[in-house]
Amino acid sequence: MGRIAYIKWEPSNSVHVEILDEQHRKLFDIVNDLIDEIEMGSDRLLPVIHDLIDFLVIHFRQEQMVMTESGYPDIMKHIKEHQQFAEKAKEFFQEYKSGDVDMEYKWITYLKAWVYDHTTKMDRDYGEYLLNRAGDVHQA
Ligand SMILES: [Fe+2]
Repeated sequence: MGRIAYIKWEPSNSVHVEILDEQHRKLFDIVNDLIDEIEMGSDRLLPVIHDLIDFLVIHFRQEQMVMTESGYPDIMKHIKEHQQFAEKAKEFFQEYKSGDVDMEYKWITYLKAWVYDHTTKMDRDYGEYLLNRAGDVHQA
């Protein structure tokens, strides 16, 4: 099995809210840590995945709060994508707990792609919106 590539957060991915950028960077770090754990054949994957899911719940809530406060028009579409991910993550988690050893590769592949695509596309859309709101720089 080849080395799984890391994902890298770039300043161009900023959503113009410092706390959310910080959380996105942390998210990228956790994904990369998970890649390391999997490559090492670690047996402590479950607690790391659990922490990741807990962190994401907090992060999604915070993002949704910023979008609500700023009147972001595409918020429902965005929330739906968060919910779909949460459902998928729960499924993976259950299957992984049931002992399917192939799950970790399927999971990290999905997780990595989702985190990267979501933060660099959908999240940047609300970032653009916040930036374009005339003279009103949002602070979370
Ligand atoms: Fe998001």
